[in-house]
Amino acid sequence: MQVETETHEETHALGVRLGNLLRPGDVLLLHGELGSGKTVLAQGIGQGLEVAEPVTSSSYVLMTEYAGRLDLFHADLFRLDDPAQVADLALEEVAAAGVLIVEWPERAWEELPSRHLLVSIDEIGQGRRLTLTPRGERYDELLAALGTPPVESGAGRD
Ligand SMILES: Nc1ncnc2c1ncn2[C@@H]1O[C@H](COP(=O)(O)OP(=O)(O)OP(=O)(O)O)[C@@H](O)[C@H]1O
Ligand SMILES: [Mg+2]
Repeated sequence: MQVETETHEETHALGVRLGNLLRPGDVLLLHGELGSGKTVLAQGIGQGLEVAEPVTSSSYVLMTEYAGRLDLFHADLFRLDDPAQVADLALEEVAAAGVLIVEWPERAWEELPSRHLLVSIDEIGQGRRLTLTPRGERYDELLAALGTPPVESGAGRD
């Protein structure tokens, strides 16, 4: 699935929609150049998960945990020197309890859960193209749900 966003706000809003749909154990890998919008998307996801604190991206902490509707574990591997450090984080176990988002997954592909939603962000002119690739059945379902427009509140419900 591909989505184009023209602004920061549109990328954030996509993150909110994704965050609303996430379940315990979900893993999202966010791939893209410096400044492509990975953290903007992660902040939207945090909002969708009802995380009250602002989601930031510290260069010096590999992973930050935020409490929300589900706990959010946000890892930024940009400064990772050795993929073995990621093995120490035991990400698969961590993710089982909540939602795991990883920026700069290419620093440690082999250490990351093989089933995940890969989000690749490319700059196109002023905007961004987000390519969402499901790796595992759960993520086929997630994309199917994301592709279904949200029900207007009140309309069509009893
Ligand atoms: N369509 C867009 N979507 C997201 N961000 C955008 C868009 N257009 C412009 N921007 C700007 O691009 C920047 C994205 O920054 P962000 O910190 O999210 O990038 P990042 O991919 O996390 O970078 P890093 O690799 O340094 O962590 C922000 O300054 C944001 O305002
Ligand atoms: Mg970032």
